[in-house]
Parts: sequence; structure tokens; C-alpha cells
Amino acid sequence: MKEPEIKPSETSAGKLPSHVAIIMDGNGRWAKRRGLPRIMGHHAGVRAVERTVRAARDMGIKTLSLYAFSSENWKRPESEVSGLMRLFRMYIRSRVELLLKEKARIRFAGRLDDLPVDIREIIREAEEKTESQEGLQLVICLNYGGRREILDAVNKASSSGEIFPLDENSFRKYLYLPDVPDPDLIIRTSGEMRLSNFWLWESAYSEFFFTEKLWPDFGPDDLEAALKTYGRRERRYGSV
Ligand code: IPE
Ligand code: IPE
Ligand code: MG
Repeated sequence: MKEPEIKPSETSAGKLPSHVAIIMDGNGRWAKRRGLPRIMGHHAGVRAVERTVRAARDMGIKTLSLYAFSSENWKRPESEVSGLMRLFRMYIRSRVELLLKEKARIRFAGRLDDLPVDIREIIREAEEKTESQEGLQLVICLNYGGRREILDAVNKASSSGEIFPLDENSFRKYLYLPDVPDPDLIIRTSGEMRLSNFWLWESAYSEFFFTEKLWPDFGPDDLEAALKTYGRRERRYGSV
């Protein structure tokens, strides 16, 4: 019988996930509990991002992807959306020097063409400057939607003259970041237990870790707890 197409991503000694993906949820509730405007929750969320990126690097994670803004998040009030865009500008700009120092590479996944033009430029520059770095790979999912990614891939395949029917490997080439291995572990904070359109194709065999912690309260200990749990999981990929 033909071997299945799914290739588990490479893992290092023990069972450390190679790619950890995080749905950073709960910023709004964090702010609300403190009687603060939602945007303050997003600011606190950026501090959690900084802690988590550092911890992931120290723990030897190769790829960390963060769901920062979904294709559905445009439905939020204009003031929140523009506040988030301001934060993205600030964060990406201020991050590049540090990433260079830490030998990390930053990449973005999503419909980047629909972002404000100056953010597109900041993204392009950040990706270009850190392109050849071989430390932690940080993937920011910005204006990302899994269904859209799949549709974009189908349309790209069709317009580039690909021969149909496609198989999984020829389809994968058209995803946003085809060389990034599928997430081994997906973490979602804030007690919600759904994917919300994150890594739909890529999560076929991901392990999940849910925590009640709101994203701004997430830190290295929580990441470590998730990794420990992951280490006890048995991944079968449909076999026995
Ligand atoms: C996640 O926190 C951040 C983004 C979606 C940008 P939320 O803003 O969704 O926080 P809650 O879910 O309303 O608490
Ligand atoms: C998912 O969170 C998107 C991000 C974390 C960027 P949401 O808060 O948008 O998800 P739903 O609406 O609760 O499913
Ligand atoms: Mg939310």
C-alpha cells in the first residue's frame, strides 16, 4: 500500500515540538476585568509575545507561529482595528534589530496585500533583513484565514498552469509558507476551544493544548507546561 503523504515535522531529542503555534486569545477580557479599554489588553498582549518569543528560543523551539489578526477580525470596531494596526507597525519596526541580534528570522503569513501599504513595507523590510538568519523562525499570521489560504492556493495552482488533479505535495507548494513544517502543537489561551480559521490545512495532525489563562498573562511557565504535555502525547497519524 502507498505510504501516507503526511510527513511529521522533524523533532529534536525527546519530544520537543519543532513548530509551536499559538492562538493568542483573551486580550479583550483581560482589559475588561481591569476596567480598561480593549486596546490596553492588546498592549499587554505584546508584552506576552516578547516573553514567549524569548522563552521559545531558549527552549530550543525552531518555529513559533503566532495568530495576531484573523481575516475575520476586520469585523471589529474601526477604532480597535486601527489600534491593532498601530501596534503591529510599532512592534515589527522595533523588533527587527533584536531579531538580528538573536539570529532570529521573522516571516508573515496571510493576505498581506490587503494590509495598509506602510505595514506591507515594514513587513517586507523585516522579512528581507532577517531572511538569512538561522535561529528561531518567528511566523506572524496577519490577516490570516485558513479557508482563504486554501482558496488562494487553489487559485494560484490553477493560474500557474498546474496539472490537475493535484496531490498533497503539489498542492502544498501554493500555501503561504510551503517550507514551514506543519504545527506539531497548537496552543490556545483564554479557555476557548476552537481553531477560529487558524492553520486549517496544516493542523491536520497537530496536537492541541488549551489553557484558561488569558493571553496577556501567558508566560514561560505556561509554555513549558504545554511542552511537557506535548511530550506525553502519542502521535499516531492514523496508524497503530
Ligand atoms: C486576541 O484577543 C487578540 C486578537 C484577536 C487580535 P481578543 O481581542 O480576541 O480578546 P477577547 O477574546 O475579546 O477576550
Ligand atoms: C482568534 O481569536 C484570532 C486571533 C487570536 C488573532 P478571535 O477572538 O478572533 O476568535 P473568535 O472570534 O473568538 O472565534
Ligand atoms: Mg478573542
